[in-house]
Amino acid sequence: MEKISNYRSKYKNHTFVTGLTSKEHIDSLQSFEVRDSDIFAVTYAKSGTIWTQQIIISICELGGGLNKYPNNSRQMPWLEYPVGHDDYSLRPSPRLFSSHLKPDLMPPGLKDKKAKIIYVMRNPKDTLVSYYHFSKTVADLETPKSFDWCFEQFLKEASWFDHIRKWHLEKDHYNILFLTYEDMLLDLKAAVTKICSFLGKNLSEEDIEQVVEKCTFRNMKKDPKANYEFLPKERFSGSFMRKGQIGDWKNMFSAAQSERVDKMLQEKLGDLSLKFIWE
Ligand code: A3P
Repeated sequence: MEKISNYRSKYKNHTFVTGLTSKEHIDSLQSFEVRDSDIFAVTYAKSGTIWTQQIIISICELGGGLNKYPNNSRQMPWLEYPVGHDDYSLRPSPRLFSSHLKPDLMPPGLKDKKAKIIYVMRNPKDTLVSYYHFSKTVADLETPKSFDWCFEQFLKEASWFDHIRKWHLEKDHYNILFLTYEDMLLDLKAAVTKICSFLGKNLSEEDIEQVVEKCTFRNMKKDPKANYEFLPKERFSGSFMRKGQIGDWKNMFSAAQSERVDKMLQEKLGDLSLKFIWE
């Protein structure tokens, strides 16, 4: 793995948090045995990953048969960041995983199209603002010099655009449900119902309401299993549950910055005819 800085390392065109994973671990994913019952939440960072985790976990808990772990991070671990020495092959099904990886480094067994992927995309402008605030509170991430600096890095790397593009271009190879953060925020019940149906979980109306309740911003903020307050304070002094809103970018972006992102969206993704709900 090529160490770019104390915070970021590169391997096979992916960027990882320095020290949290290794070349050997990433390579081992090529022989990771995917089970038909596995469920993956895939996102670009700060797009609503822990929210999606909470929804999937809550649905599977009510759907029955889920082995319990002490918190959502252990229950639905990041595939690319091994925690402790957890051997996932020993986990009972259904197993739940999270990932920020692009398709090329995901386990090839996912292409059998049986295991399920829920992919959540968020407006890149809100994603960047969320990352800007988040990175100031995480010891493993570089503290941004300013919002403008963070903005320039985001456009220069263009990794958000690459992530969205690659997953959409590859979609026919996977059993994948695409959702947006904005869809989830505007109608959480509809999003939960969609996810239930994709996962083949036939929950009653009452159970669906219960999942929705557990997954509101207000309730997740109070839920120690879900809100990541279990991370040690010296590593993380902020909150995953920051604002949970659509359009916070308007408090940070200049008109020129907003136009530059719009232009890049057209240049990088314009040919994919994606529907950007935030527009
Ligand atoms: P903000 O920083 O804009 O508030 P991730 O889990 O990928 O790191 O994403 C974190 C973002 O998702 C944060 O955005 C957080 O507030 C938001 N989020 C988490 N749970 C949420 C919920 N139940 N409802 C709305 N937003 C939520």
